[in-house]
Amino acid sequence: MTYEQAKTLLEKNGQEQVLRFWKKLSKAEQTALLAQIETIDFKELKRCASMLTATAAAAKKGKPTAPKVAELKGAALKKATAAGEKELKAGHVGVLLVAGGQGSRLGYEGPKGAYSIGPVTGASLFYFHARKILALTVRYAVRVPFYVMTSAANYDATVAHFEENDYFGLDPQDVIFFKQGMWPGMTPDGKIILDAPGHIFMSPDGHGGMISALKANGCFADMKKRGVKSVFFFQVDNPMVEVADPAFIGLHTLEKSEYSLKLTAKREPTEGLGMVVKRDGHFDMIEYTEMTDEMNNRRTKTGDLYFKFGSPAIHVFDRAFLEREAAKAMPLHLAHKKIATVDEKGKVVKATEPNGYKFEKFIFDALADAKGVTCFAFDRADEFSPVKNAEGKDSPATCKA
Ligand code: UTP
Repeated sequence: MTYEQAKTLLEKNGQEQVLRFWKKLSKAEQTALLAQIETIDFKELKRCASMLTATAAAAKKGKPTAPKVAELKGAALKKATAAGEKELKAGHVGVLLVAGGQGSRLGYEGPKGAYSIGPVTGASLFYFHARKILALTVRYAVRVPFYVMTSAANYDATVAHFEENDYFGLDPQDVIFFKQGMWPGMTPDGKIILDAPGHIFMSPDGHGGMISALKANGCFADMKKRGVKSVFFFQVDNPMVEVADPAFIGLHTLEKSEYSLKLTAKREPTEGLGMVVKRDGHFDMIEYTEMTDEMNNRRTKTGDLYFKFGSPAIHVFDRAFLEREAAKAMPLHLAHKKIATVDEKGKVVKATEPNGYKFEKFIFDALADAKGVTCFAFDRADEFSPVKNAEGKDSPATCKA
């Protein structure tokens, strides 16, 4: 993209302030800024800007109720496991890891997946995920493609970590790295924010960005070529996850589900896990920040929590469902953040109060469109201990213990 092209595009979209320090920039800074501008999807940017002026989101209709959650035991568990093993052996399963987040709570420089978590070995989070996939390839004598979503900020470091570790024994041809989209931050009046004279403040478009990123990077085509029908989805921060658990895959296929979720009983009523609910005949996720005290503490006649099971974001998707969703624009969520800006003289000013907005898409917004949704309970003691915070709950110390 040339300067002239960028100028025309920005003017057309009311964002000419992005080039206001152009003449003061070095050649390298000018090239980098043009490269950033080139990545912006101005159609999506318009949608972001319209969110800033939208009146409060329409309240969702219908009273939320708790969904049916399968707690498989005995013969039912055996049946689901056998069905899942059949899918795995047939090569119908792909694995998708979302690792494009910024891990700001953990405060680790570098991709969160490269964080050392093995209590004895010091092995990284990526090590644990990759070795479980390797075990699947051995146990089921099959290739299991591993799609790893990164962002522009951590792509190179993620690939380097895999290369330095010989892909943890996986065949590099079966490890597919791709980048999610990045969106510029905006002022409350819809202007793109510069956080340095030659640099636009940009952040990853959320884990929901995975759907459009899979499409844009040819991953759906790759899955199709390989015969993948079910996509096991998980987050980078939980080294205990049972990757492509056969019982979960099996239940998903037996139920002809499009979006299946593993759920776990909440540790305490206010634990920060999303809550799957049903309302108006559709499934939906209520974020923990939106749960009222009454909902968190509501009890059944037997004294159990009514909204008992939370979602740690362990899913199986039907590949064709994800492809269908890719044709749609996902809802956007706003986060009010402190973002560094540049004053009239080109000096960088740190923000002390939230002054701008970041935009994200959330994967669970796809729930409402899924034709079949299956919820499967699991025991957190076996499979869930996320590394979210530097200290305290859900930290490296609790995970290692
Ligand atoms: P979190 O919500 O825990 O966010 O992401 P985070 O960025 O890792 O950490 P904080 O909030 O800054 O401390 C849950 C999962 O979704 C991925 C993360 O990498 C993690 O696996 N994710 C999140 C993305 O892949 N892209 C995003 O834009 C956001």
